Amino acid sequence: MSGSMTDRPQPDSPGERPACAAVIVAAGRGERAGGSVPKQYARIGGEPVLRRTVGVFAAHPAVSTVVTVISPDHEALARQAVGPAPVHFVAGGDSRQESVYNGLKFLEKHNPEFVLVHDAARPFVTAGIVARCLDAARRHGAAAAGVPMADTVKKTDGSGIVTDTIARDRLWRAQTPQAFRYRDLMAAHAAAAGQSLTDDAAVAEAAGLSVAMSPGSEDNFKITAADDLARADRIARALASRVTAVGHGFDVHAFGPGDHIVLCGIRIGHSQGLEGHSDADAALHALTDALLGALGAGDIGQHFPDSDPQWRGAASGRFVRHALDLAAAADGRLVNLDLTMICERPKLQPHYDAMKRSLCDLTGLPPARIGLKATTTERLGFTGRGEGLAAQAVVTLDLPDTV
Ligand code: CTP
Ligand code: MG
Repeated sequence: MSGSMTDRPQPDSPGERPACAAVIVAAGRGERAGGSVPKQYARIGGEPVLRRTVGVFAAHPAVSTVVTVISPDHEALARQAVGPAPVHFVAGGDSRQESVYNGLKFLEKHNPEFVLVHDAARPFVTAGIVARCLDAARRHGAAAAGVPMADTVKKTDGSGIVTDTIARDRLWRAQTPQAFRYRDLMAAHAAAAGQSLTDDAAVAEAAGLSVAMSPGSEDNFKITAADDLARADRIARALASRVTAVGHGFDVHAFGPGDHIVLCGIRIGHSQGLEGHSDADAALHALTDALLGALGAGDIGQHFPDSDPQWRGAASGRFVRHALDLAAAADGRLVNLDLTMICERPKLQPHYDAMKRSLCDLTGLPPARIGLKATTTERLGFTGRGEGLAAQAVVTLDLPDTV
């Protein structure tokens, strides 16, 4: 199966021979990585893998045309993942080699001077790696990004017993991108059709072309196993520009008739209760407002109006969970929280451990990221007179630097 699957507007002007096109192969099934969608559509750092990969080529000054080879079964996923970048979608084949060839055949009418081939599953390719690879191809005819072998290499018999130690000084691990003169690679692929070579350098070698290695990077690894997705997510987060947002919340509930109060989701026996529409958990209400504050998302009353009967007597953990869900949807991560509860009685210190456990369960934070304090106001003011209990919360959220 080959051919175009509806095009986007082309960045290159008609009639002009583009200097360099890029073929990004994304038609694999990602079986080793597993997951509900093929790895190239999984999200890392809040963004689909394919979007990052395509973005590097679409934004590269040396690349005038980007072809993304996908499985027709995943066309909707691919379009969603790529977003507004101007790319051509082409249907892939059963093997990587066939998918590349389909991408190359699509480029026949463009007839670029050079072509870069890149795995969608290598999202940490950089503009510099692309430029170096293309430069090496201009000088040597063909080039593959890679990293020199740092580990000692052992050859084993079939049962894992070492039979040989291989000198590593001339060994490289090949990555992509790989750059070729377009006509050369087309001819090499035509000659190699039906084989199952795992990279285009091997296709070119089989055709007798000489291929130079060009420096890639350790971060330019190929997402292959499920662990690699977790590693990619960590790298993407580290690379993304993030901000720390501070949120503050304050809440008061009046004492009234009753035999217990609820704070941080913990029931504490007392000669009075706290009045309120929900369970009157001032600590969790302050925490909810602090989270909403850091998100710039209004206050608890806007999200859970007092007038709504469904919140009568509600356990306030659900308000916190709602605010945490909003944070997660914004790709935010709660870093820490600090809570101060203010009342003369009951004494809260004996309940700190239980409260902390409850907050750990609710927020997923480790105990060391939860501050929990109580104070009196030396019998001054409404808390000093025992009329009510107040709580203050401060949180920090780690958020993407986008609004
Ligand atoms: N690829 C492709 N067409 C195929 C097979 C692979 O376009 N028929 C692409 C993949 O999408 C990936 C790259 O080639 O970007 C490298 O292949 P690989 O890491 O093997 O990916 P998958 O084949 O998707 O994974 P798996 O082998 O685990 O199923
Ligand atoms: Mg594969």
